[in-house]
Amino acid sequence: MEKTQLASNISNYEDQVVSLEMERIGDTISSLPTEDGWRTLKPLCLYQGFWCFPYYAESIILGQKYYKAEPSDIFVCSAPKSGTTWLKALTFSIVTRTRFNSSSNPLLFQSPHTCMPSFHRSFSKKLDIREPGLPLIASHTPYASLPKSVKDSDCKIVYICRDPRDAFVSLFHYIAKVRPKENEPISLEEAFELYCEGKSLFGPFWDNILGYWRASVERPRKVLFLKYEDMMKDTTLNVKKLAEFVGYPFSLEEEQQGMVQKIIEMCSFEFMSNLEVNKNGISRLATNVENNVFFRKGKVGDWKNHLTPEMANRLDNIIEQKLIGSGLTFNP
Ligand code: A3P
Repeated sequence: MEKTQLASNISNYEDQVVSLEMERIGDTISSLPTEDGWRTLKPLCLYQGFWCFPYYAESIILGQKYYKAEPSDIFVCSAPKSGTTWLKALTFSIVTRTRFNSSSNPLLFQSPHTCMPSFHRSFSKKLDIREPGLPLIASHTPYASLPKSVKDSDCKIVYICRDPRDAFVSLFHYIAKVRPKENEPISLEEAFELYCEGKSLFGPFWDNILGYWRASVERPRKVLFLKYEDMMKDTTLNVKKLAEFVGYPFSLEEEQQGMVQKIIEMCSFEFMSNLEVNKNGISRLATNVENNVFFRKGKVGDWKNHLTPEMANRLDNIIEQKLIGSGLTFNP
């Protein structure tokens, strides 16, 4: 048989295997418990103890089976609405800083969300999701549901979390913007109830945070645990820590040339939210999303403008209870 014919047969065979697999995955997903309270495009489904959209579950199931981690991989992970956009921009800038200058950086023309593949989105489209020459892969997937090869290999994981009170307020505003306009909007009180019950995107939020926190305590050289509030307070220190951790430390010369500050400025909320691409651009993520939905206020403590004292108290109690004994706290 001709070599090209053989290659095409193999590829057809692979297509058939994947399409059979997709059917099986579809059956699995359709049997999962669902939650439609957020009134998003699709209801959330409960897969392996966490809530996500069915198209994310599909990608995660494929990724768990097919993804083979490389020691050079860097997983950029986060609890939703905790600073994912910021962490993606920073890690991308750190890792590619010798490749681009201040006018050619892709972040000037592209949302940080399209600058790296996403573990929970990309597998439904292709099985080899790596971007050539880029070691970064993003995800909100809980630690427990990452592929075994990611946990077992020497690859690095960086994770950002945020005070759940601010993460909730941010999520509420995000859902208000991305929900289909024909669906009745969810009220703050309804959203809060779902959040407290653990029924939120990639939640329960406490499980998402604790999975990575515990992994970072057990394996501090594998998992770097960052907090949005700490990053805000001392961005320079944390950006240097991040660069060092992922294996791209700043040299003394780079520091003297102001490279750290350049990256911080370029990735700052003020700079990024004012770029044309982030003000008016649209990205094809799982669905079409306006890039501006990822930039709202970028402040610590905005929950005080939205939560009643009773709501704040209830969330405080949940956080305290769930994190008890873990060593992790969110100090007001
Ligand atoms: P707010 O809604 O509180 O403003 P994620 O990126 O995980 O989706 O989180 C979105 C939150 O991070 C939003 O918070 C958004 O404004 C904020 N954010 C986005 N880019 C940021 C940046 N470069 N620096 C700091 N915060 C940023």
